[in-house]
Amino acid sequence: MQAIVLEELNQKLAVKQVEIPAIADNEVLVNIKYAALNHRDVWIQKGQYGGIVLPIILGADGSGIVTKVGANVSADWIGKEVVINPSMNWGNNPRVQAKDYVILGTPHDGTFAEYVKVAAKLLHLKPSHLSFEQAAAFPLAGLTSFRATMKRAAAKAGENVLITGIGGGVALFCVQFAVAAGCNVYVTSGDDEKIAKAIALGAKGGVNYKNQNWDKELKAMSGGFEAIVDSSGGDTFAKLVDLAKPAGRIAMYGATLGVFNSGVPAKIFWKQLDILGSTMGNDEEFAEMLAFINENKIVPVVDEVFELAHAQTAIEKMSSGKQFGKIVLRID
Ligand SMILES: NC(=O)c1ccc[n+]([C@@H]2O[C@H](COP(=O)([O-])OP(=O)(O)OC[C@H]3O[C@@H](n4cnc5c(N)ncnc54)[C@H](OP(=O)(O)O)[C@@H]3O)[C@@H](O)[C@H]2O)c1
Repeated sequence: MQAIVLEELNQKLAVKQVEIPAIADNEVLVNIKYAALNHRDVWIQKGQYGGIVLPIILGADGSGIVTKVGANVSADWIGKEVVINPSMNWGNNPRVQAKDYVILGTPHDGTFAEYVKVAAKLLHLKPSHLSFEQAAAFPLAGLTSFRATMKRAAAKAGENVLITGIGGGVALFCVQFAVAAGCNVYVTSGDDEKIAKAIALGAKGGVNYKNQNWDKELKAMSGGFEAIVDSSGGDTFAKLVDLAKPAGRIAMYGATLGVFNSGVPAKIFWKQLDILGSTMGNDEEFAEMLAFINENKIVPVVDEVFELAHAQTAIEKMSSGKQFGKIVLRID
């Protein structure tokens, strides 16, 4: 089969011929139609991610059709249109993942291939209102957003919710989920056009974080926030503490800008803020997210679709941050 195999770090992504994987008794083989990129694939290619094992077939997100099942798996799955939950081995504690938790696509071969093998318990039926292309776009980013926005930050109807760095694949789902939940959503971005697109998706307003006084502009526009979902970290964090209303919740799932160098801890305790770390999500949250997507007929925003052979161009676009929404690979 054809697959994007990373054999060494910093290697350009190229299609290689490899064997179709053999499945174990509790596994299935999925013929992948579309896969989607995540920033994680960029980090892995650059060697800036934990637990890298080479060679590896990249890719956490995929949609396709089940073609083969193991001895312990119901044959009813064969021919089903599916999406894959990339969260492997979450474990029994819904609050936090187990020690052997991993995400599909490192250290186990992922979805940038004609076929992927996964445990049958990771399979879910593709939402019928989505094409394979749209369905490939939501598993990892959607799950991360759902837990961070709806569970950890617990955004509720009528509340002011801030989502930072809206061009990101995860951030855009945060907007879609919070809008569907009836929140007053505001965004930040380094690109005014992306802010306009977020408003078209239902956000109430947004500011460009390249403006020196972006936080003050946002405060004037919104009056402050009950819930904030952030992936920037760095010096943005101190401003988010200021933007949070008393008793506000700040959920964080990324750290694009790195470590905190500023901020006044007293503001966190005096305002009774909740600072909530969030990573991926558990199996129940994946199923809940899927139900939420089906119920609200949420359609992921796909920035661009590339042929598998052009995966390097696709990952360069993600690395440059020019996208609005998910970058998808056509594999079928
Ligand atoms: N913990 C988890 O489970 C989890 C899961 C997925 C991703 N992540 C992490 O979350 C981050 C985003 O991932 P992704 O896949 O959504 O990446 P992505 O699609 O490449 O998005 C990255 C986004 O970061 C935003 N950004 C850049 N500089 C910023 C700044 N100064 N202030 C605010 N935002 C800024 C940009 O938004 P604009 O284009 O709007 O400027 C950019 O689109 C990555 O660090 C990733 O590793 C964590």
